Amino acid sequence: MTEEPPIAVLTDDTAYAEAVQLAVDSAAAYYADGTSTLDDDAYDRLARGIQAYEEAHPEAVLATSPTGKVAGGAVVGDVPHTVPMLSLDNVFGAEQLADWATSLERRLGRPVAAWSVEPKLDGLAISARYRHGRLTQLVTRGDGTAGEDVSHAIGTIVGLPARLAEPVTIELRGEVLMTTEQFEVACLKRQAHDGTTFANPRSAAAGTLRAQDRPYVCELTFFGYGALPYPDDASEQAASLRELPHSEIMTWVAAQGVQTTAATPVAGIVAETLVQVQERIEQIATVRPELPFNIDGIVIKCDLAADQSQAGFGSRAPRWAIAYKLPATEKITKLIGVEWNTGRTGIIAPRAVLEPVELDGSIVTYATLHNASDIARRGLMLGDSVTVYKAGDVIPRVEAPVVHLRTGDERPIEIPQVCPSCGDGIDSSQERWRCVRGRSCRAIASITYATGRDQLDIEGLATSRIEQMLDAGLISDFADLFYLTREQVLGLERMGETSTNNLLAAIERTKAQPLSRVFCALGVRGTGRSMSRRIARHFGSMDAIRAADAEAIQAVEGIGPEKAPVVVAELVELAPLIDKLVAAGVTMTEPGWRPPAVPGIDVDPDAQTAPEAGGTSELPLAGMSVVVTGSMSGALEALTRNQMNELIERAGGKSSSSVSKKTSLLVAGENAGSKRAKAESLDVRIVGPEEFADLVGALL
Ligand code: IVH
Repeated sequence: MTEEPPIAVLTDDTAYAEAVQLAVDSAAAYYADGTSTLDDDAYDRLARGIQAYEEAHPEAVLATSPTGKVAGGAVVGDVPHTVPMLSLDNVFGAEQLADWATSLERRLGRPVAAWSVEPKLDGLAISARYRHGRLTQLVTRGDGTAGEDVSHAIGTIVGLPARLAEPVTIELRGEVLMTTEQFEVACLKRQAHDGTTFANPRSAAAGTLRAQDRPYVCELTFFGYGALPYPDDASEQAASLRELPHSEIMTWVAAQGVQTTAATPVAGIVAETLVQVQERIEQIATVRPELPFNIDGIVIKCDLAADQSQAGFGSRAPRWAIAYKLPATEKITKLIGVEWNTGRTGIIAPRAVLEPVELDGSIVTYATLHNASDIARRGLMLGDSVTVYKAGDVIPRVEAPVVHLRTGDERPIEIPQVCPSCGDGIDSSQERWRCVRGRSCRAIASITYATGRDQLDIEGLATSRIEQMLDAGLISDFADLFYLTREQVLGLERMGETSTNNLLAAIERTKAQPLSRVFCALGVRGTGRSMSRRIARHFGSMDAIRAADAEAIQAVEGIGPEKAPVVVAELVELAPLIDKLVAAGVTMTEPGWRPPAVPGIDVDPDAQTAPEAGGTSELPLAGMSVVVTGSMSGALEALTRNQMNELIERAGGKSSSSVSKKTSLLVAGENAGSKRAKAESLDVRIVGPEEFADLVGALL
C-alpha cells in the first residue's frame, strides 16, 4: 500500500557526518516546534541511509547518530521519565508488516495471541502524571529519557481531565495534537495577533504546548494510547493493570474520563489474524482524509501483556509494536511561480506552480494559494521551499514557507495591479479580490456556464456562437439570449434559417427549466449544482430567495454564517439580470414545491421536497445518502452526473460526491474505481445502474 522511500546513498565518512548532522538538526527542529527542514519521507530516507552506512562501517559510527537512540534528541528537558518514551520502528506495506510479524512470532516461539490496531496520531507524545486522580505534571518526550515540563498547558488540552474518575496514581501516555478545527481557530488567533499563521497542525501543537507567555491561548487535544503504573507502585491495582491486555487498558483509560480514539471512526480494535489487521489498516487509510485530525500511519501492537513482556524492547523501540506508515500528505517542494486567473464571477485567484512532488499517490504541480492576503500572511516568496498538503480528494494547498531553507535568492511574489483577464481595475476591498467589472469581465465564461448542460442546457449554443453574439453587441449576459430577435440571429455569420429556428426554439424551451437550474445558471459565488438545488427546494421561488436575509439563507443545509451574506450580496448584484429573466418569462419556481409546514408541528423538514408523494419517507431513497460512480448504462445511460443527482433528490435521497461511512448506497457503473473500493471497505451497499433504475422506478 505504501511505498518505502528510497535510501539516501552515503559514499564516505564526510557524507555520513553531514547526513548525521542534518538528521540531528532536523529532528531537533521537529521536536522543538514541529518545523523541520525535511519532510517525513526525506527524513526516513536519510535515517535509513545513515543506518546502511553504519552497518557497512561500524568503526565510523558517530556518537551523535540518530540511529542508536530514540528519535528526536534535541530538546532535552530536565524531568526524567519513569520509563523511557521510545519511538516505533516503521514498516511500509503489507509485505514488510508480515515479515515483522513473522520475526516477532519466531522470537516468541508461538503465534501472537491478538493484535491491537490503532491510528498513529500525528502530534507529540506526552506523559501525563496523575497522583491520587489529580493531574499534577505534563512532560514532553524530550530525548526519550528526560523531557520538558509543560504543566502550564494543563487546562488547555481537551480530553485530558484535571481529575480522573478514580483517585488513582498513574502515568498516562498519549498524543497531543490540534484538530483541524482547533488549528483553524489557532491560525486566526495568531493572525489577529501578529499577522502570521502556523505552518501545520503538528507544528502549531508543538509550539502551543511549549509556549508560556503567549497573549492568546490555543486549545489542544489529547488522545491517550497507554497507561503505566509507576515502577515503584506495588498496589494491587497497579499489578492488575500491568497484567491487562492493551485493549482493556484503553477501556480503563476511557472510563477514567480520558479521551481515547474509541469514539472516532478510527477506534482501536483487536484483530486475531494478520489478514484482519490488514483489513483494518485499509479501513483506516480509507477514512483518513475525512478525519478531523491528522494521522500518519497505523500502530500495530501485541495486545496481551504476556506477549509484550516476552517480546521486550530494542534500543530505541519496543519489539511488540510497529508503525505502518501511510503515504505522506505533506511534503516540502519549491514554489516556482504564481499564476493569477480571473474566474467567471470575476474573482482573481492566485495559484502556486510547484516543482512536481508526489503526494498521497498523485503528482502535484499546482496548489491553491487562496488569495493575495493569504500570500502576505504566509510570507511566501518565489523560490521558497514550501510545505504542501494534500489528502484524498482535497485540492492541494501551500501551507507555509520553510524559512530556514532560504538561500537569499528568493524574490517577492508579484501582486497584480490590474485584472489579469481584462486589464481593468481590481476591487481589493474584500479578502477575495475581484475585477471591477465583476461577472462581465469574463462574460464568455459566465454565459457558457449558464447555458451549459447542467444549468439551462441550451442545445446547440456553442461558446464560439456566444462569443460571436458578444462581439456583435447582441448580448452582454445570458438573460439577453431570451430577447434575441430572429433577424438578429439570422444576421450572424454562419447562421441559416434552420439553425436560427433551432436555436431560438431551444432558447424558448429553456424558459421551462426549474428554478434549481435557473438559480444555478446565475453562478452565485459559493453555490454549485447541488447547493442550487437545495436552495431552490428550500425556498420554492425566486421571490422567496430574494426576500431571504442572511439568517434565512443559513437555514439551507451547507450554508454557514460565512457563505450566507455572500449569497445575499450576490443576489443584490444579480438583481438586474434576474429581473430581465423574470420579464422574459423564465420559470422562477421549483415544480412540485409545497410551502413548509409551521415549524414545530409534526413536519419532517424535507417533506416539502417531495412533490409526487406525501413526504420524503414514502420515496424510494428517503433519508439515503447516495453516491454515483463509473459510467451509467441502460435507462440511465444518457443522464449526466447532474441529472443523476437530480434524480436521486427527486427520489428523496441526498446526492454526494464522496463515499464515507455515512453513505447509504453507491451506484457503481462500469469502470468504477476508488469509490467502489472505498464503499466495499466500509461495507456500503453497492448497486449497478439497472438495479438503481428499478429502485427509482417511475421517478426516472
Ligand atoms: S505507542 C513504546 N501508539 O508515535 C510505544 N504511539 O514513533 C510507543 N504515536 O512517540 C508509543 N500514535 O508519539 C503509540 N497509537 C499510538 C500512537 C503513537 C502516535 C506516536 C508517539 C510515539 C511515536 C513513535
